[in-house]
Amino acid sequence: MSFRTQPPAPNRSNRCQLFGPGSRAELFEKMASSAADTINLDLEDSVAPGDKETARANVIAALRDIDWGSKTISVRINGLDTPWWYRDVVDLIEKGGERLDMIMIPKAGRAADIYAVDALVTAAEAASGRRKRLAFEAIIETAAGLVNVAEIAAASPRMEALSLGAADFAASMGMQTTGIGGTQENYYMIREGQMYWPDPWHQATVSIVAACRTHGLLPVDGPFGDFSDEPGFRAQALRAATLGMVGKWAIHPGQIALANEVFTPSEAAVAEARAVLAAMEQAKAEGKGATVYKGRLVDIASIRQAEVVVRQAEMIAGK
Ligand code: COA
Ligand code: MG
Repeated sequence: MSFRTQPPAPNRSNRCQLFGPGSRAELFEKMASSAADTINLDLEDSVAPGDKETARANVIAALRDIDWGSKTISVRINGLDTPWWYRDVVDLIEKGGERLDMIMIPKAGRAADIYAVDALVTAAEAASGRRKRLAFEAIIETAAGLVNVAEIAAASPRMEALSLGAADFAASMGMQTTGIGGTQENYYMIREGQMYWPDPWHQATVSIVAACRTHGLLPVDGPFGDFSDEPGFRAQALRAATLGMVGKWAIHPGQIALANEVFTPSEAAVAEARAVLAAMEQAKAEGKGATVYKGRLVDIASIRQAEVVVRQAEMIAGK
């Protein structure tokens, strides 16, 4: 057991991050009135190269003019391998006002990527007199990002969250698929003549969760492209939640309620967790560290498991 305790993740609800292209200003009011906890205005891959300047201007105006309520507001800047990213950062800080909470750094490959953005943000914040410190979130969506995920998570005190970006990740890895998230047609096993489809994102998901939990960040599942496939989205989201992620992106309003539902611990799950805690209170009163609850072992580790569920539910209820 390490003598260092695990740092807590930021204490905010992040069940759904709703994306919208910065070039589609007509969507912004709808995004603001949605039930998503976090809004991601995109300057990167949903914006065509010819629209980059307009999108940036739209987003800056929206940060100042639209009432975003209590949502967390994030802007996804362009990648560090493009000519646009530094101007995204500088203009957001100099012209975007104080409402902006976070910027999202796509295709993070190593800690130095975060360091580079941090240096620019720190200088621009100081020069502009911005009072609220801008937070960072990054997307793990390249082979390098996955290899270096732990150093990326630890790269700056501004870091709050990591998302898995399935599409770019698949491309970078040379995966033979064009699907964005979910099970993949050709990724199957056969047992006794029955096909079944394992989760090709499992290892990346677990690596991101471990890096986030080690360094006190929120792990988030990225996009699920087929927005007409509700059962597919739900299955992917439930798997991510079971593995420790706290939320999922929505790339269409139809996915928001689903994400909120999956990443809010159900009443049954909370009742079960409270019952485990009560059983352990009883065991403690009897001087025991382990007891039997509904025919199975519960012990002091069960308290920590149950507390994850109860704390998450209480944080969401109190948001
Ligand atoms: N946020 C809020 N509202 C949205 C929305 C979004 N991201 N996408 C669509 N809507 C609205 C539409 O304006 C429409 O509203 P209306 O009923 O008032 O007319 C309604 O939801 C239904 O939209 P629909 O016609 O099904 O979608 P579309 O064809 O307009 O757009 C997409 C579909 C996928 C192109 C669009 O949802 C989109 O751009 N999503 C985000 C993509 C993105 O940001 N990608 C980067 C991260 S991977
Ligand atoms: Mg991407």
